[in-house]
Amino acid sequence: MPPEKEMRKRILTGDRPTGRLHLGHWVGSLAARVKLQYECETIVIVADLHMLTTKRAKQDIEQLPANVRGLVLDYLASGMDPERSSIYLQSAVPQTHELHTYLQNFAKVGRLLQLPSIKEMARNAGIAGESLPLGLLGYPVLQAADILLARATLTPVGKDNLAHVEIARELARQFNSAYGPVFPEPEPLLTDTAALVGTDNRGKMSKSAGNAIFLSDDEQTVEAKVRGMFTDPKRIHANIPGNVEGNPVFVYHRLFNENRSEVLDLEERYRAGKVGDKEVKEKLARALNLFLGPFRERLAIYENKPRLLDQILWSGTLKVRRIAAETMREVRARMGLDRVWKMIRAGGMRAGESVNR
Ligand code: TRP
Repeated sequence: MPPEKEMRKRILTGDRPTGRLHLGHWVGSLAARVKLQYECETIVIVADLHMLTTKRAKQDIEQLPANVRGLVLDYLASGMDPERSSIYLQSAVPQTHELHTYLQNFAKVGRLLQLPSIKEMARNAGIAGESLPLGLLGYPVLQAADILLARATLTPVGKDNLAHVEIARELARQFNSAYGPVFPEPEPLLTDTAALVGTDNRGKMSKSAGNAIFLSDDEQTVEAKVRGMFTDPKRIHANIPGNVEGNPVFVYHRLFNENRSEVLDLEERYRAGKVGDKEVKEKLARALNLFLGPFRERLAIYENKPRLLDQILWSGTLKVRRIAAETMREVRARMGLDRVWKMIRAGGMRAGESVNR
């Protein structure tokens, strides 16, 4: 292996396959990932085992194949290059379960119970108190298994996942001090400094809130959604001075409209009561459609080619399986499990011979 390859950082990051990706995902994580793939070896997880911690009803499972392909499609539309980013399906790398089991011996229930992320996921799933499933409590331990299995050194995550990377670091330290140095401590990289507001201005953009603009929305859909966007409610007429700060229409203009002077001009006229919402929104819809142009071009390449998507996901999965096999060989050797295996294999083979004769 050339030394510069050894030195390169390895990234692990990803999402649960629960729906299509929107502008909030782009701002919060995708933009950073697409950039990082040129600097680091990148592995992207489609975390179906994590999805199962809260969604395991029949219809969730029925939707899984479509959700997995949809997620891969959105990754590719965002500019992830399968040559640079290995996208893999978590449940298809069985070593995940094995490492998860070993790490569970180090994870402390008290620590996990205190995590706001676990509490929030339980609340959203309508779970209270004693009925918290062990699987959901162990969500961060499973995530640590993903990160450590790949021996990732950098983990780009959102705020809600920061504590999970901290737990992965703790588990790596504890494992290493119990059995010897196997795992690097993954460095967290916070990618979402502020969540993107939804089109209705009621909290962050999310699929379930119905206030999202999806990366796969077509031009007419974007126009319609922008036309219905929340703006400054005090402006009943175009000649009333308006508020730009925190106004979602201008939040989006600043983030997605590359025509800086147009944005500044609209802001100035909005503050002075010299522009109608109609013009501000028409220009925003145009800017968003311009921004989404390259996404649509890439979508067109992969859309209606489910087998190509499967092939990309499968080859990423095989690559991670190879990495995982190497890690687990070392893990079992350090833990001393391989000696037991070798013992029974050797003894078993000798016995087999004598029985057969
Ligand atoms: N927990 C992540 C989410 O919020 C998904 C995930 C699973 C993940 N394993 C990971 C992220 C490992 C980064 C690294 O959907």
